[in-house]
Amino acid sequence: MCGIVGYVGPRDCTDVLVSALTKLEYRGYDSAGIAVFEGGKIEVAKTKGRLADLSAKMEREGKPQGHAGIGHTRWATHGEPSDVNSHPHSGRRVTIVHNGIIENYKQLKQFLIDNDRTEFLSDTDTEVVAQLLDFYYDGNPIRCIRRTLHELRGSFALGIVFADRPETVYAVRCESPLIVGQGQNEVFIASDVPAIIKYTKDYYLLEYGEIAILKNGSVQFCSLHGRVIEKELHTADWDEDSAEKGGYPHFMIKEIHEQPTAVKTTIMPRIEDGLPNLAECGITFGTLRRLKNIFIVACGTAMHAGMVGKYVIEKLARVPVTVDIASEFRYRDPMLSRDDLVIIISQSGETADSKAVLNLAKERGARTLAIVNVKGSSIAREADMVIYTHAGPEIAVASTKAYMVQLAVMYLFAFETAIAKGRIDETECRHLTAELVRMPKIIEQTINAVVDVCQYVSTKLITADSLLYIGRGLDYALSMEGSLKLKEISYIHSESYAAGELKHGTISLITEGMPVIAVATQNTLLEKTVSNIKEVKARGAMTIVICDENADIDKDAADYMIRIPQISEMLMPMVATVPMQLLAYYTSVNKGNDVDKPRNLAKSVTVE
Ligand code: G6P
Repeated sequence: MCGIVGYVGPRDCTDVLVSALTKLEYRGYDSAGIAVFEGGKIEVAKTKGRLADLSAKMEREGKPQGHAGIGHTRWATHGEPSDVNSHPHSGRRVTIVHNGIIENYKQLKQFLIDNDRTEFLSDTDTEVVAQLLDFYYDGNPIRCIRRTLHELRGSFALGIVFADRPETVYAVRCESPLIVGQGQNEVFIASDVPAIIKYTKDYYLLEYGEIAILKNGSVQFCSLHGRVIEKELHTADWDEDSAEKGGYPHFMIKEIHEQPTAVKTTIMPRIEDGLPNLAECGITFGTLRRLKNIFIVACGTAMHAGMVGKYVIEKLARVPVTVDIASEFRYRDPMLSRDDLVIIISQSGETADSKAVLNLAKERGARTLAIVNVKGSSIAREADMVIYTHAGPEIAVASTKAYMVQLAVMYLFAFETAIAKGRIDETECRHLTAELVRMPKIIEQTINAVVDVCQYVSTKLITADSLLYIGRGLDYALSMEGSLKLKEISYIHSESYAAGELKHGTISLITEGMPVIAVATQNTLLEKTVSNIKEVKARGAMTIVICDENADIDKDAADYMIRIPQISEMLMPMVATVPMQLLAYYTSVNKGNDVDKPRNLAKSVTVE
């Protein structure tokens, strides 16, 4: 969603802001803008479109020159993407950039109109905040921010400049993420670390209700009441290269290739003497032994990782697992008790609905476990226990390596729960763990083995209007992710269906040449899945079958066969994911789409 940046230091501020915003492009946006102090005055440049459009506009109309300012990429929520709705927005003496949503902006706008503030230029909730700050501004920025925040409802982060406080940037956080980077004689604000990593690896995490004041190349923190706060400085454990394409044409394909390393880095520190050990994440045998029910709640791809987790946990540990979409779970008055565990899976750790579920679960007394990729993110900090996935920064909007490591953690968790519950013995657990340890190598072999065939098969998909992904059991759970991956970046309508359910309605959609991608890696269900493949083939479907190298499937059932290495049935999702990712990737490339930044999507959804 929206991205915020800010800078105070000796460099050309406009260049820094634009370069930092480029690193937040992955969040999704439809317009961009900056505000920079130039000769004591705030100069604003903003436009609908991409950062390249902003640069072109500044080229034509003049680029603000200065050393302190704020910048923004907007993902439209209130009002269409347009020049006027782009951030920054200004009151008479205050200019702001904003990430998040102000739920009560209509009431506040009315309040301002009733108080003779009628100069609203845009449709945005942000402009109401700028006007409100201006309304309360009496020369004391902290008091003004406090009074304004007192009135605002929603979750948001703001970057603020006051016309009479030149060369100074204020930032405040209420839920939406914001970090403050500290370099040598220069300071930054940003919605995420990749924006500043080119300049510094050192950063502070702004907490709820904290204000940062950036001035003279350094930062001071205070509470809304002006009390000075000392904060811990964090250092990113990855560098600029991790957030660059490194010779690959797109982040997505780079991230697909990073999966073996990501899995290794995620699982190895949690394996001790051949057995999983999650104690360092706060997970004890006692907690696992007492578990009565598990709820896995997440959004998008992360929810799909939970679907695989359900099959594996239930099979091995025999604990009932409910998987739900966060935006549904939070409003369905869930029944939770002290012996229940709510697992929130989130790459970003900032997804608004997932965060709300975490709060709800805590309120209702359930134990909470976060499986999160971004260190220090809200969900990671607020959950009782956290297992960090170590995928490194994921930039492409379509998640690949983050999903893969979420799967790896689901397995580790299932093994540990199963042994704690006495459902498997140590020998079996060692055997399963050893197989998981082999996965990085096998994933790498799979990428090399299927890349060409996926590239070829994708050329058969580009003309399709609609397609189906089918599978049974774990293959069904997996096909949900395959289908999402394909639709989000290729823009081809795609649905995943439990293969056995096709006959109850969906098979009527099959027409001559319609692609059906069947995932058939579960040998115990293979015959049944093959029957379903034959049923759609008999009705004209073009069938693409993803199966293991030894699967016994009639040649005439499949128009195209994608063979992957055979490992134990339970771990097949980590292998079968690879061709699905590659099919989506090459279909998108062949269609000429913006692979890493698909239309209308955002990487991190920080609003409801
Ligand atoms: C967005 C992204 C998806 C992601 C989902 C959940 O929709 O585009 O790729 O799966 O949010 O994000 P999270 O950060 O919570 O995993």
